[in-house]
Amino acid sequence: MSVLVTGGAGYIGSHMVWELLDHGEDVVVLDRLSTGFDWAVAENATLVVGDIADEALVEDLIRNHDVDAIVHFAGSIIVPESVSDPLGYYLNNTVKSRSLIETAVRCGVRHFIFSSTAAVYGSPDSFPVGEDTELRPESPYGTSKMMTELMLRDCAAVHAFDYTALRYFNVSGADPDLRTGQSTKGATHLIKVACETVTGKRGHMDVFGTDYDTPDGTCIRDYIHVSDLVNAHYLALERMRAGGGSLVANCGYGNGYSVLEVIDAVKAVAQTDFDVRVTGRRPGDAVAIVAEAERCRRELGWKPRYDDLKTIVTHALKWETKLATRNRQ
Ligand code: UFG
Repeated sequence: MSVLVTGGAGYIGSHMVWELLDHGEDVVVLDRLSTGFDWAVAENATLVVGDIADEALVEDLIRNHDVDAIVHFAGSIIVPESVSDPLGYYLNNTVKSRSLIETAVRCGVRHFIFSSTAAVYGSPDSFPVGEDTELRPESPYGTSKMMTELMLRDCAAVHAFDYTALRYFNVSGADPDLRTGQSTKGATHLIKVACETVTGKRGHMDVFGTDYDTPDGTCIRDYIHVSDLVNAHYLALERMRAGGGSLVANCGYGNGYSVLEVIDAVKAVAQTDFDVRVTGRRPGDAVAIVAEAERCRRELGWKPRYDDLKTIVTHALKWETKLATRNRQ
């Protein structure tokens, strides 16, 4: 029996592969390496380079590796990019997910974990935001993920098939043992960008808007450590295997930090100053979004271990430093 991880050569997927291996699971990774790296995949996992919409390939993998569960990370993840390329996002995140789900159902894979996003909520009227809040995505990225959640819901209603959709808030940090981390080229995520500014990969960084209706005028997010996030996936897998059924749950800590607070935390951890410039708002950005985080704890028995912004930043920065050395070699 094994677990198929799509997008397992990417940031979150490569952490998931380690989480599964650490729990003694057999792991097959399917990744087309468009943004991920083969070297990011743990050696004890089987890496297959290919597309999730290649139904013949996925069917072979499921049958040859006796796959009982799919953890689906593959997709496009940049909110502003989705605004300028909506059809690309609907293809990668919705249409291709549909193919993968169809293959899973056809081949009798019972359990499916889907990498969803807080972007399905858009800008909620109040926070923390609970899972039953109306979904009002504000970007094609959020809509593309919401559509996949709906397909899963409808399939679970009629097939022998359970799903867990985990709605990620802002995932950051790296494996504390630095076995993997966020290596994506051209990164746009705040903590990654700030860490690249510390290591000198960037000369400066921008703050996208200081005129939002928040205490310091910058957007508020709920930052979650990637290792806690992948642990929630493992617990979700155990829950489904034990017959717990389908579930939709937020993955965040319930703590909100502004962009300026995050930058201050990076400066404090790095014990250095760097050039930060204020520019205009970025398209597609929600003002503030913070998770109501109880369901994940209650349903999965999730006990976060790294619920601390400085710890998240410390691990992110250590990884960035390691990556900078690796890229120079
Ligand atoms: N930001 C900057 N400067 C930068 C990068 C980001 O000011 O160089 C700001 C953004 O404008 C935003 C905040 O930092 O206000 C966070 O931006 P990120 O790009 O780090 O993350 P997003 O909130 O846009 O998106 C992320 C994930 C989504 C997820 C969402 C949920 O990419 O998958 O968090 O809040 F849905």
